[in-house]
Amino acid sequence: MRSRDLPGVLITGLVLLAFAGCESAPSNAPPVTAALIRTGTRENADARMLSRGRSLLLHRCIQCHAPPDAAKLSPERLRNVLATMASRAHLSPEEHEAVLKYLLAVRSL
Ligand code: HEC
Repeated sequence: MRSRDLPGVLITGLVLLAFAGCESAPSNAPPVTAALIRTGTRENADARMLSRGRSLLLHRCIQCHAPPDAAKLSPERLRNVLATMASRAHLSPEEHEAVLKYLLAVRSL
């Protein structure tokens, strides 16, 4: 590598890091792993529904605030809050259910 390429390499690295950071930053929105799918099963949610819920959370809910820490909310509280938030995020009933089940699964990870 020639030394005058260094700034370009550094910038590329920083840009990649920024994107990687973006993807991993919301620690309250863990990826859909085998462990999450197991807890999701208890909520009658399959991998597809959990992925949909996570994606909606990361695209629609964060228009107003960071993803909530599901572990801090009781299932009842989550259900009640989601009833309000789903309409704020203009979710369809199916989307509402997917986000709720994803958060319930995360909660019991
Ligand atoms: C249009 C803006 C908006 C959208 C979209 C939105 N929220 Fe909220 N959310 C708020 C505001 C404002 C609060 C602060 C409490 C309040 O006003 O009810 C809040 C609070 C919360 C809380 C904390 C409630 C508590 O009492 O602990 C949770 C959990 C939450 N939102 C989840 C979500 C989820 C999940 C979504 C996506 C389905 C979502 N929000 C979408 C505006 C929004």
